Amino acid sequence: MTARKGNSTNYRCVLVKTDKDGITWVTFNRPEKRNAMSPTLHAEMEQIMLDLETDQRTKVIVITGAGDAWSAGMDLKEYFRETDADERGQFRSFTSNRNWGWDLISRSRKPTIAMINGYCFGGAFTPLCACDIVVTAEDATYGLSEVNWGIIPGGNVSKVIVDTMPSFRQALFYAMTGRPFDGRQAVAMGLANIAVPANQLKAETVKLAHELMTKSPTVLAYVKQALRAVRTMDQDQSYEYLRAKILALRVDDKERTRERGMAEFLDNKSYRPGLQAVARPGAAGGSPRKKVMPRSTSKRI
Ligand code: ACO
Repeated sequence: MTARKGNSTNYRCVLVKTDKDGITWVTFNRPEKRNAMSPTLHAEMEQIMLDLETDQRTKVIVITGAGDAWSAGMDLKEYFRETDADERGQFRSFTSNRNWGWDLISRSRKPTIAMINGYCFGGAFTPLCACDIVVTAEDATYGLSEVNWGIIPGGNVSKVIVDTMPSFRQALFYAMTGRPFDGRQAVAMGLANIAVPANQLKAETVKLAHELMTKSPTVLAYVKQALRAVRTMDQDQSYEYLRAKILALRVDDKERTRERGMAEFLDNKSYRPGLQAVARPGAAGGSPRKKVMPRSTSKRI
């Protein structure tokens, strides 16, 4: 059951709130269980991610956790022990988990940010890696703790960490030892992008979301799709795919960013694409830009 109020929807295990600027905050909301992922949470997240994909108000999706955890991973009681003898329940929650935790997030056309505010263990690494960008509290605690209670990093955790972390040795080390690490280390090992003190976490995330909103959403969606798709292609396939994709974008991008971008740079000389995005036409969430100083006289940064 859900309770709707204005731009907020309260599910049993998740809060969803869309700000007027287009950031939708998806908050795991089982703080008393450190936001461990139960079958109910999985079912709700599957529905939420499906809904947000076509929600016109949502420009950027931020996934975070209530209290002092992002998520303590799978709920050992409800997801594992209670479904050990329940094949149907196990299949349903496994499938929901896969659908939202990897497929729906990683394939979303909207920018997705994981805002890691605290504990992040085990199965939580899948949605963590599925998100496009990770902003973390410096003192957040991460751990591939599966080994500590007798399983391998399953779901698809083993796969997503070796695909995401540039150092295979680090992936092996942390999966084999189960040692916790913090947000700064998560950045150093390529799991997160930005680490900030906890009291700056939300402001940093909002700043990033607003930066993303200055770009054409269609161009951003294509950038995401392209980078993800080429990972499994060889050189020839990638050249062909990217050529087709870039042509498709010219049709798909209703903001005609490419044409406007060239005209504003080459003809109007109003901005430098190396340093900022071309202004979006009447963009909701995008900041209208003044014409900058002529390029020949303005200070270079
Ligand atoms: N599954 C089920 N319940 C959990 C989980 C979990 N993953 N994590 C926390 N809880 C519950 C606890 O059982 C406890 O419930 P209770 O109040 O009914 O006894 C409550 O949440 C609070 O947990 P505490 O351990 O008391 O909280 P504390 O702040 O001291 O420690 C910590 C937090 C470090 C996150 C600890 O709870 C923990 O180690 N949790 C398990 C982390 C983990 O290894 N997850 C599994 C990863 S593997 C996978 O996801 C496939």
